[in-house]
Amino acid sequence: MPNRNDVVNFAAGPSTLPTVVLEKAAQGLLNYNGLGMGVAEISHRSKEFKAVSEKTVSDFKTLMDVPDTHEVLLMQGGGMGAFSTVVLNLLAAWKLQNPESNAKTTLDYIVTGSWSNKAAGEAKRLTQGTDVSVNVALDARNHSQDGKSFSNIPPANEWKYSENPAFVYYCDNETVNGVEFDKSFPYDSLPPNTNLVADVSSNILSRKIDVSKHAVVYGGAQKNAGIAGLTLVIVRKDLLVDTDAAFNLGGIPQVPHLCDYKRHADNESMYNTPPMFAIYVSGLTFEHILNHGGVDEYSKRSDRKSSKLYQVIDNSNGLYKPKVSPESRSRMNVVFTLPDEETEKRYLNEADKLGLKNLKGHRSVGGIRASLYNGITEEDADKLIEMMKSFK
Ligand SMILES: Cc1ncc(COP(=O)(O)O)c(C=O)c1O
Repeated sequence: MPNRNDVVNFAAGPSTLPTVVLEKAAQGLLNYNGLGMGVAEISHRSKEFKAVSEKTVSDFKTLMDVPDTHEVLLMQGGGMGAFSTVVLNLLAAWKLQNPESNAKTTLDYIVTGSWSNKAAGEAKRLTQGTDVSVNVALDARNHSQDGKSFSNIPPANEWKYSENPAFVYYCDNETVNGVEFDKSFPYDSLPPNTNLVADVSSNILSRKIDVSKHAVVYGGAQKNAGIAGLTLVIVRKDLLVDTDAAFNLGGIPQVPHLCDYKRHADNESMYNTPPMFAIYVSGLTFEHILNHGGVDEYSKRSDRKSSKLYQVIDNSNGLYKPKVSPESRSRMNVVFTLPDEETEKRYLNEADKLGLKNLKGHRSVGGIRASLYNGITEEDADKLIEMMKSFK
């Protein structure tokens, strides 16, 4: 039976977390802070848990440089939950700001991979039968060589924003396809005063993001920021609105209470029982990142780990074939193929023998995917790199 130290887990999410974080988490689950009770066994309204959640939010704000204009919400529902809550809440805010407008409201989606594509699909579904329509301002597949792959992000002057969108949505890192915006979203391309929404589920805390440029930034915690169960949502405060009042103006969907950003903000993310253990683990993860140089340090590590791996791929005389063009390659999810299924199997077997696990690509894309999240150390990445050199 392998030991934790014998294995490097390259899973795409949920994914590996620092062992020291998990050891503390395990201890806290049994006996938090000498209470004789675990952190998930006490009231979420107790002073002990309040302290946990306040410190978690405060450390997250520090790590993300969250300005005073924005609020942090600890929610549930994962990344996919946020596909819906973003639409519902931002449409309500839009309606209150544009009550008289008879013009059709549009939501612009920048589709660069499977997740933004899913998000656009959910927006279409939620707005069926309303005055709202979804404009896919970019479908990156149309800019790929085979016309069907997510393999690059074309420059913003080739996108087609609508005239006055209620928001523009993008996914900063596409986990399945291994596509990431180069450094950041091209903010200068946006129509003036546009609400920008970012899904950062799979590259959160791996590089700086300018929160002030966004209406909403959100991510499921289970990759760089903790375990599944917690969704971190940063919302600009003017978007925390009375969604019932907005609904009464007509033309937009009603917002379930549990999806309502203002309700969560007004109740300091304790409107109902929050995912207490997941919050605790995220708090420990944030503390760990802060104690090890913060986002700047993890950003440098991510650059080093991924560029070394891409170098091996690019210098393999075609054995390893990258799926994504260099300027849009993800630092978190390195996606590539081998010449045939047989060689791919041999590669995975070889890796497995060395304890290098979970390298199989997503079923929709195939090939190999090595996820290099914050929990993967540079030594861990080096093990894979050495294996790939010797396999070649
Ligand atoms: C970029 C991105 N967005 C959204 C999701 C969906 O997240 P969840 O499974 O937490 O709903 C994922 C999941 O891996 C993801 O990688």
